[in-house]
Amino acid sequence: MKSPHAYYLLLFALLTGCISKTDPSAQNKTINIVPVPQEMEMLQGCFTLSNKTAFIDESNFDEMLPITEDFKNQITLSTGFTLEKTSDSKNTITLKAPKNELPPEAYILTVIPENIVIEASGRAGLFYGLQSLKQLFPAEIFSSELVSDIAWEIPALKIKDFPRFSYRGLHLDVGRHFTPADSVKKFIDLMAQYKYNTFHWHLTEDQGWRIEIKKYPKLTEIGAWRNETLIGHYSDKPHQFDGKKYGGFYTQEEVKEIVAYAHKKCITIIPEIEMPGHSLAALAAYPELGCTDEQYEVATKWGVFNEVYCPNEKTFQFLQDVLDEVIPLFPGKYIHIGGDECPKKQWKESALCQNIMKKEGLKDEHELQSWFIRRIEKYINGKSKQIIGWDEILEGGLAPGATVMSWRGMDGGIAAAKQGHDVIMTPTSHCYFDYYQTEPNKEPLAIGGLTNLKKVYEFEPVPKELNQEQAKYIIGAQGNLWTEYMPTFAQVLYMAYPRALALAEVNWSQPNRKDWISFNKRLLYQKQVFKQENIAIGRLDSKISIHTISDKNTGDLLAVLDCDIPGIEVRYTTHGDKAANNSPLYHHPFIIQHDIILNAGAFSPEGDQINRLKKNIFLHEACGITAELTFPYSDKYPANGAISLCDGLKGGDDYADGYWQGFNGVDLEARIEFPVKKEISKVEIGFFQKEASWIFLPQKIEIWGEFGLGRTQKLAELINEIPNNQSGSFKKDFILNFDPTEVKGIIVKAIAQKKCPDWHPGAGFDAWLFCDEIIVR
Ligand code: ACM
Repeated sequence: MKSPHAYYLLLFALLTGCISKTDPSAQNKTINIVPVPQEMEMLQGCFTLSNKTAFIDESNFDEMLPITEDFKNQITLSTGFTLEKTSDSKNTITLKAPKNELPPEAYILTVIPENIVIEASGRAGLFYGLQSLKQLFPAEIFSSELVSDIAWEIPALKIKDFPRFSYRGLHLDVGRHFTPADSVKKFIDLMAQYKYNTFHWHLTEDQGWRIEIKKYPKLTEIGAWRNETLIGHYSDKPHQFDGKKYGGFYTQEEVKEIVAYAHKKCITIIPEIEMPGHSLAALAAYPELGCTDEQYEVATKWGVFNEVYCPNEKTFQFLQDVLDEVIPLFPGKYIHIGGDECPKKQWKESALCQNIMKKEGLKDEHELQSWFIRRIEKYINGKSKQIIGWDEILEGGLAPGATVMSWRGMDGGIAAAKQGHDVIMTPTSHCYFDYYQTEPNKEPLAIGGLTNLKKVYEFEPVPKELNQEQAKYIIGAQGNLWTEYMPTFAQVLYMAYPRALALAEVNWSQPNRKDWISFNKRLLYQKQVFKQENIAIGRLDSKISIHTISDKNTGDLLAVLDCDIPGIEVRYTTHGDKAANNSPLYHHPFIIQHDIILNAGAFSPEGDQINRLKKNIFLHEACGITAELTFPYSDKYPANGAISLCDGLKGGDDYADGYWQGFNGVDLEARIEFPVKKEISKVEIGFFQKEASWIFLPQKIEIWGEFGLGRTQKLAELINEIPNNQSGSFKKDFILNFDPTEVKGIIVKAIAQKKCPDWHPGAGFDAWLFCDEIIVR
């Protein structure tokens, strides 16, 4: 040994089983594959890719050539090696069919120092094996330029891999903002790299019709163009517009090319032709398909519009003709027919609709929508295709063979699975990649909400409510990219990634293989992969969060701090000063003994502050008590769960910050029982209003005292004077004072708006009530 340093390097190399002549640091490889493979075993030594490596496909599977050419081209671009077999070829990468049949999409990848073998029982398995193989090399293998001075080494190992779910999807809305054909291909490339197999192409919207239909040329002459586009956020009033004509569409030739391109990457495309709602662009082109005589125009702002297809014969003929042209373009088994957010106002007011309902024995407009969808399903089934619809297609009865995309939470999916229908889980809470990915004030404008990487990673598509048999109907999960606030393709990718990597792992890897800390380490490599292609992806969240818990034994309120990024130190103060890198380190929950101002900071191992949090904690009489709710809170906005309304924490300026609890379509009625009688004289409750997000203050608040033996008495009442059309986004604390009264408990009743009012774009749909804290003094 020349030096102790060299000795340790050799020892380390022996321990990791791989001795390198060129780049000792190459030994220290974490396996960075995303999604993480199901089984992995490290072997001795390592394989080095060189200009003597040959690539051989012995599989004899159909349509392998485009896959192998793509792989070889990529390797040649970055390494300069051609992978051709020559007389002095030294080592090989071989694709093979295995001796024993493997499940669909599964593969076995074996790397030993002499060669690499990928085995699979079909094209997709080999394709996925190649994706994993690429991710074993240094990230520079993804470069489109020649990279020198790199040891193209990978450790010897054996991977046995297969997907958890058969449906692994990403969606892209090209209606709100148009994604040109080449960018769609790039979107598909990235999906394939992370083993997604389904691209849901949202092709028609209120703001633009994007697919050429030869029989109806006005769909793209008129429907593909809007006069201008909303500037800023929909909730900014008054609305302002850019005055610029905007649009675009895909010719059928381009669609065919994209479908073929996706097929080459083992991705099936599901086209979505929206009906009966979100159809304003089509109505602008063909007004006779609407229920009114109005002059329709392609929408220039976002939202839900009352203008929907009228279920008349002209509409059915039109939709069937459109489907006749769409279906042959897409070889996959599904056609998505939308079905979401169809306001029923115009149907209620239409004599034609009311007549159909009478004739067909339909009890309401929801049943009319089901009748509409069933009729279309029959037509589509007649063309040997299956329909998918958003979960509203459950309302008024599900079409017999429909697959449901559960987006308004998991409930639609649960109901559909219980009825024996296939389900794709795509709840807003975890799968809407148009929501902010870190704190809104640090991000480009987005629609709202907050779905950080960890939340996506923690998503479990199979709900506990389903038994084993019903769970089989959950065929996978999908991430959705609605593009209202994504005017460029770069913004689409920024919003999609890294969250789509987390969802890739949710969809592919068994739950016991998932590990947030390991995922974050692998993410560092994946960030380098994106860097090779100059793609800017979302920042990794380093948000500090706080929640409180009630100590079971003592009833004390305990503060719990958490940071999303492993390896980050959290330090804090409780007296109002900012946390510094020498403030006390947070180790475990601490007791709150009085009202405090908590300041916490997240610090990197180098002591740099990455993020901070400031939060008041109010220690009031009801703290730590689980309020008994007459109507449950929504699982979309649970905040701190059962104790949220009495956890000492108030919400911030964003209703989705994790401190506001949301109630959908119901009043807030909370019973708070004290462990011992208490004299109280004041209740303070915080609510939120953002009418653009369908959130309204309560109309009235009542406080009732409980005195035992069922005796109750109203202690205070307050009528809210703030109108429900007051725009903007604001919080309001309502204070109810009353004479000091000794009570065993209280009941808080906040009478909610429940349905969006008539003047509102969501008229008739369930409205939201958001509450942060019930402070009792
Ligand atoms: C949807 O987000 N309206 C399906």
